[in-house]
Amino acid sequence: MDRRTIRAPDDFHLHLRDGPMLALVAPESARHFARALVMPNLVPPVVTGADAAAYRDRIRAALPPASGFRPLMTLYLTETTDPAEVVAAHAAGIVTAVKLYPAGATTNSQAGVRAIDRVRPVLEAMAEAGVPLCVHGEVTDPDVDIFDREAVFLDRVLDPLRRAVPGLRVVLEHVTTAEGVAYVRAGGDIAGTITAHHLVLNRNHILAGGIRPHYYCLPVAKRETHRQALVAAATSGDARFFLGTDSAPHPDRLKEQACGCAGCFTATHAIPLLATVFEAAGALDQLEGFTSLHGAAFYRLPPNAGTITLARGAPAGLPAKLDGPGGPVTLFDPMIPLGWHVTGDAA
Ligand code: DOR
Ligand code: ZN
Repeated sequence: MDRRTIRAPDDFHLHLRDGPMLALVAPESARHFARALVMPNLVPPVVTGADAAAYRDRIRAALPPASGFRPLMTLYLTETTDPAEVVAAHAAGIVTAVKLYPAGATTNSQAGVRAIDRVRPVLEAMAEAGVPLCVHGEVTDPDVDIFDREAVFLDRVLDPLRRAVPGLRVVLEHVTTAEGVAYVRAGGDIAGTITAHHLVLNRNHILAGGIRPHYYCLPVAKRETHRQALVAAATSGDARFFLGTDSAPHPDRLKEQACGCAGCFTATHAIPLLATVFEAAGALDQLEGFTSLHGAAFYRLPPNAGTITLARGAPAGLPAKLDGPGGPVTLFDPMIPLGWHVTGDAA
């Protein structure tokens, strides 16, 4: 079969940034995605309902004129977050979820949580009101090897937290390990997002034969067996797993330096890449669930009314870089030929 029509996809983990970078990347996501859950790690972070509403308006203003793209907003959890503020912003429909960054875990996470007990009242209020918690699941303890930080987080932080706050709806974001997959499969009120890039990357791609800063993201890609566990989870049809691209643009000059920052920019071609990966796994029939149905069901949203049609063949004219406000922004190089494109794509 050379064409496939699926419900319009949702990206349940997206970095859109702000200002001129937002203007550059928002249209890239709006081309294939109908909705996205927008991460709040701006400087300063999105911490109140008013912040989220203002950011949502800036995103809308950055979209192409007739775009139906809908940003779903998140709040950045801090140790001073007011439980009533979260519940009110969610009830008002301004905020879809709250994001937990352990302080120091990743880009712009300094305002995040140092002691999880300090946010217990917020989490209890969220459990009560049904507000999902999106979790960056890595410990920041310098004694823990970076390749173990996700697995250790599950044991030390997430599992005790979920036992302490039963009923809290949790999304383990950007799962990168077999342990993370198993933890989500073990069930309860939990789901896991998986990125497109973690379905193709292992740690050799970052480090063997030279260091490749555009493959560096957090959580960092793990060994090949973990990548295989992610592909198995994403293509299994299990509704607990769905797409969150974690598309995270940075200007090349900030990635290609002595201390380069984390993030892979995939918004432009995540859907063609996923179709290619799912087909290689013999699971093209599971693509729509992963991109367009499972996440909506978890977030208690109707699936998008619109559709996209995929057709065989690489996207035409995909650029290697976008010309950004702070210089070029390199698109993720998937290393494999893309076997599908989205029809009607202007790219
Ligand atoms: O690679 C990443 N980039 N991981 C994150 O958790 C944050 C993101 C960013 O904002 O650049
Ligand atoms: Zn992210």
